[in-house]
Amino acid sequence: MPVAEPQDDTNVVRYEVSDGIAWVYFNRPEKRNAMNPATNRVMTDVLDEIEFRDDVKVLVLTGEGDAWQAGMDLKEYFRETEAQGLRGVRKSQRESYGWFRRLRWYQKPTIAMVNGWCFGGGFGPLCACDLAICADEAKFGLSEINWGILPGGGVTKVVVDFMSMRDAMYLTLTGEAIDGKTAAAWKLVNESVPLDQLKGRVEELAKTIMEKSPSAIKAAKDAVRRVKEMTYDNAEDYLVRAQESANFFDNESRKEGIKQFIDDKSYKPGLAAFKRDE
Ligand code: ACO
Repeated sequence: MPVAEPQDDTNVVRYEVSDGIAWVYFNRPEKRNAMNPATNRVMTDVLDEIEFRDDVKVLVLTGEGDAWQAGMDLKEYFRETEAQGLRGVRKSQRESYGWFRRLRWYQKPTIAMVNGWCFGGGFGPLCACDLAICADEAKFGLSEINWGILPGGGVTKVVVDFMSMRDAMYLTLTGEAIDGKTAAAWKLVNESVPLDQLKGRVEELAKTIMEKSPSAIKAAKDAVRRVKEMTYDNAEDYLVRAQESANFFDNESRKEGIKQFIDDKSYKPGLAAFKRDE
């Protein structure tokens, strides 16, 4: 009787760092990168490991094979944890929602590079990323309704935040999958490009962001998420304080940015970023 090999869970997420970009891969292509509890745990570790590395300026989240990721693993995330009772269910929820939250407020800017299937729970990390570029060939769907649940775990919230109410409702009630171009038209992603141009476009976008002051990028991306639910006056107050607190970490960038434009006349902020010493 053959003995089953112990599964090496550490491979379910892999990453490589090159030219300032951490390419993080969902790595269960044989399961269309569905998120099982091991994925959620290893992803948390990977996010921890690379967040403050000096050589990581931008994080790109993508999928191995022909899926970005096919949502939660219906067998391992739902059926098997439910078999452990409420304790198992709550544990696996904490593990998945935990890294989605980490990603939402990540120190480095993040880009979802959606290379293929993206379903259900996958909308959590998709919308947790600051930007999203997909392949025209990608397919996005809230398939929950197709197997009998509502889009939970924050999914209904993020689609309503990112899309029009009509489009969010359409995806939610029909369970139909839309292609990349439609996802871009419906504002679920920033742009859709042919699959063979996807990586190049993401690299180009990452380079544009890398040229800016990292502390300004972090303050700005958090501000965009925070002010959405504030009144005008609260937002104004928050933004003043957010800038003042960003100055605590980096008070030189904005002075240098002003100097290079006003005194040196070496660039125009309306057209590009100032030159930074690394
Ligand atoms: N959960 C568990 N296993 C999955 C999942 C998933 N979400 N998605 C794919 N798999 C597994 C399949 O069971 C299959 O396993 P097997 O080889 O052991 O039989 C393997 O991945 C390959 O899947 P196929 O269906 O054969 O791949 P195909 O390329 O034909 O189809 C597709 C891809 C469309 C993504 C299909 O797998 C699918 O519909 N998956 C489910 C998508 C979904 O509804 N996800 C849940 C969203 S709801 C939520 O996240 C809360």
